[in-house]
Amino acid sequence: MDTLRTSLCDLLGIEYPILQSGMGGVAGPELVAEVSRAGGLGILAGLRLNAEQLRQGIARVRQLTDRPFGVNLWLHTQLLPPVDPAALPAATVQQVQGTLNRFRETLGIPAESGRPAAVPDLINEAFEVILEERVPVWSIGLGNPGRDMVARCLERGIKIVAMVATVDDARAVAAAGVDAVIAQGSEAGGHRSTWVKPASREMAQIGAMALVPQIVDAVDVPVIASGGLADGRGLVAALALGAVGVLLGTRFVATRESGAAEFWKKALLERGSEATTVTDAFTGLYARALRSAFTEEYAASGAPVLPALLQSGAAQDIFAASTKQQNPEYVPMWSGQSVGLIHDLPGAAEVVETMVREARRALRALNERVRLG
Ligand SMILES: Cc1cc2nc3c(=O)[nH]c(=O)nc-3n(C[C@H](O)[C@H](O)[C@H](O)COP(=O)(O)O)c2cc1C
Repeated sequence: MDTLRTSLCDLLGIEYPILQSGMGGVAGPELVAEVSRAGGLGILAGLRLNAEQLRQGIARVRQLTDRPFGVNLWLHTQLLPPVDPAALPAATVQQVQGTLNRFRETLGIPAESGRPAAVPDLINEAFEVILEERVPVWSIGLGNPGRDMVARCLERGIKIVAMVATVDDARAVAAAGVDAVIAQGSEAGGHRSTWVKPASREMAQIGAMALVPQIVDAVDVPVIASGGLADGRGLVAALALGAVGVLLGTRFVATRESGAAEFWKKALLERGSEATTVTDAFTGLYARALRSAFTEEYAASGAPVLPALLQSGAAQDIFAASTKQQNPEYVPMWSGQSVGLIHDLPGAAEVVETMVREARRALRALNERVRLG
């Protein structure tokens, strides 16, 4: 295929400046290897995997491809270490379970009243695996690695990309020494990439069109655009804003190799950009997902939410029952506003190949449409 190279390709050793987000529960070794095989950068989701599981995932990617790939970890302050469920106020737990019990009743599963189980403390052991395995790229969501973690990667030749949602956070991770910054626009599917939970859901919500050029101006390292991008036109637009590449999540959820449930993929094909909402009711942290009975009824209940991943821990039985019943209303289906651009269910390699073709076409079309005098 024709080339479409930027400085990011040289930095990460890839053909095309297209990254696939390391999405928990979605980005397993098959998806990652397909993206990397096609010349992009596949990123394995490391969230909630223990050392052995992560090691196995990395080994499987290496069996499938010899191209560079990444591993993603969250570094959220509420997870380093995870909040102790014993410290949760009893009244809060009661209110949360009260609302969740309505969903349990709808799904026909037993009511609960207790505290959720503790969130396993896995981030540090996962980081050690990344170091030992000398993973080519460490991708960070919801966190700032700080100079010490950066130095340990540098010693082993591991490149670091860190995702941020504000200009201040971009400056902070750049100062820590990361190799590239991912600017996450508010259109993005999944969690808002901040390491402290914002005071309200309106905060840290800047569209990619405004955020990307500001971060390009603010830092000296390469910038990767993310949020709302799903095709070659988006890639060209991101390059025009000063980015050297793109990171896509939602587009790769709707691929054959993604680990998402079939009803989730189907919903992405059927629904438009107005179908998403930002909620903290699924996990305790703000994230963009398809609107559903869960998001709407939880918000209407006025119940508080538990800290990071304790909220999802409390609702785990609901998510499992909803999935088992193929009922999309009570399980998170993360999605960005790019959902309205997604109309097919291709292989992941095809997504990369199509984007490159479309981007080249968009560049040519731009050249014809715009006459510079
Ligand atoms: C299903 C899904 C899961 C995600 N999981 C993660 C994750 O585990 N770690 C992370 O850093 N970002 C995660 N993200 C966010 C992406 O890194 C990225 O910001 C976003 O997908 C870009 O916007 P887009 O979905 O419009 O392409 C996830 C996104 C989606 C859609």
